[in-house]
Amino acid sequence: MSQKPSHVIAIYPGSFDPITNGHLDLIQRGSRIFDRLIVSILRNDDKEPLFTVEERMEMLREVLCVYPNVRVDCFDGLLVDHASAQQATVLLRGIRAISDYEYELQMALMNRRLRPEIETVFMMANEAYSFISSRLVKQVFFLGGNITGLVPPSVEARLTTRLSKRDSAK
Ligand code: PNS
Repeated sequence: MSQKPSHVIAIYPGSFDPITNGHLDLIQRGSRIFDRLIVSILRNDDKEPLFTVEERMEMLREVLCVYPNVRVDCFDGLLVDHASAQQATVLLRGIRAISDYEYELQMALMNRRLRPEIETVFMMANEAYSFISSRLVKQVFFLGGNITGLVPPSVEARLTTRLSKRDSAK
């Protein structure tokens, strides 16, 4: 069994298309537990994203610049290889409801099989945000619903700009 590193680095991976207040809450709490937290966006995602990886990194940086031990990054390929290249020993994931558990368990076990030295740590989402997902936020916003309080104000502003560009292109 390997020793506890003196400096624990965790990766919080995801699509973040866009970052929600649920993600932000987890990052805030994670930043208090780990010495360093890397919020990392998957590049080769099958999902058709609304924002490019560069736009998402910019949005993340805008809201995360207040946390000195949090850094924004992106990755291709296997998450555990990315974690290992960053000397991270922890993968941080949030669980909102039982429905998240099965998918998260599968990923955690696969990642453990690939690199047993990297541990997945789950944190329960804050109940105030447990119903929020990037997908639902986008859907509600583009159908004219109010998303204030569900995403950071800078993200809401980006969505508004995206909507007005889309409307003027029609
Ligand atoms: O929050 P998301 O969008 O569900 O994030 C999913 C993510 C990025 C954590 C997952 O798709 C991932 O780790 N992809 C990288 C590919 C990989 O490592 N696959 C093997 C482990 S399941």
